[in-house]
Amino acid sequence: MGYRVAIVGATGNVGREMLAILEELNFPVEKMHAIASRKSKGMEVAWGDKTIYCEDIERFDFSTVDIVLMSAGGDVSRAWSEKIGKLGPIVIDNSSAFRQDKDVPLIVPEVNPDAVKQAKKKNIIANPNCSTAQLVVALKPLHDAAKIKRAVVSTYQSVSGAGKEGMDELWNQTKAIYGLGDATPKKFPKQIAFNVIPYIGSFRDDGYTDEEAKMWEETHKMLDPNIKLTVTCVRVPVFVGHSESVTVEFDRPIEPDEAREILREAPGVLVVDKMEHDGYITPVDAAGEHAVFVSRIRKDPTVENGLSFWVVSDNLRKGAALNAVQIAQLLDETGTITPKSGVRTVIV
Ligand SMILES: NC(=O)c1ccc[n+]([C@@H]2O[C@H](COP(=O)([O-])OP(=O)(O)OC[C@H]3O[C@@H](n4cnc5c(N)ncnc54)[C@H](OP(=O)(O)O)[C@@H]3O)[C@@H](O)[C@H]2O)c1
Repeated sequence: MGYRVAIVGATGNVGREMLAILEELNFPVEKMHAIASRKSKGMEVAWGDKTIYCEDIERFDFSTVDIVLMSAGGDVSRAWSEKIGKLGPIVIDNSSAFRQDKDVPLIVPEVNPDAVKQAKKKNIIANPNCSTAQLVVALKPLHDAAKIKRAVVSTYQSVSGAGKEGMDELWNQTKAIYGLGDATPKKFPKQIAFNVIPYIGSFRDDGYTDEEAKMWEETHKMLDPNIKLTVTCVRVPVFVGHSESVTVEFDRPIEPDEAREILREAPGVLVVDKMEHDGYITPVDAAGEHAVFVSRIRKDPTVENGLSFWVVSDNLRKGAALNAVQIAQLLDETGTITPKSGVRTVIV
């Protein structure tokens, strides 16, 4: 017994991870609904040891559920999230549609859990961009210890960040290039197999991309508007797991050992940092895991009080589905919502 939950985008990369993580974390679900577009109506998705069938978003009565995990892109969110919120359920939205709305809290539970108090303003909570989520989990404990003045971030983002079509394009292009087939880019602007693309999202007038701007805008909203951040976002031919090279300038000296100690104690972070080949993490190591991994912590001698490090996490998990489920847990633990059924039992 527990909450009535609907996952919009249940056939997608993130939606499927949400179903898996709700089950793994034993979130109290009384009834689960898988929602997608009309073309997927009746499609099977796995929910624990059961199979459930997709329902058409246009036909679904959202007033019957407590929580909607929305993961079908910005256009679907803009069309549906406010309407659904007005019917009563809390929408946890994975898209960028509401992240900068002042009446919508943007939450990473390890960073700003108190923002959940704002959840009822529109009955919408925004989940951050995948690259921002893992970055702020690593920055927050360091910022609490020594204020971060400036950070320089370069991302190495996997193709699953661009949905099912992104993964299909890497797979099909790789086979086509080996087999002399057609490797014409469709989802990405250039060939992604055996290549890297320094462009994600769309260009802005200032020369940055909107994906890059999301990282500083969201860091400012959740962590501190005074942190200066410059970002380069790069797509790489990796299926799952985003990596980030991060250089931070603090307002006081902080030694690598002190940073390691702080990060070892921090929620959601796993430090793997030895000068040997099992002593740093790659995206392949992080895929399927819940942690934000931090490796290669070292001094940046070119600035005052500088540290450089490497941050890796599973973008479909901490970058999307896991964070959304943690927000649902936060709603439950803080009593922000109670189940319509009136019964909340956790089976352990
Ligand atoms: N992937 C990541 O790393 C990541 C990280 C953070 C946030 N996000 C966000 O999460 C969302 C989903 O990403 P994804 O990677 O799961 O994408 P995806 O694999 O392409 O899946 C998209 C999902 O949206 C559904 N959908 C599309 N149009 C719809 C409509 N008109 N009505 C109802 N459902 C519709 C699709 O259903 P059909 O199968 O029926 O088309 C599918 O279930 C996006 O907003 C993305 O920005 C993704």
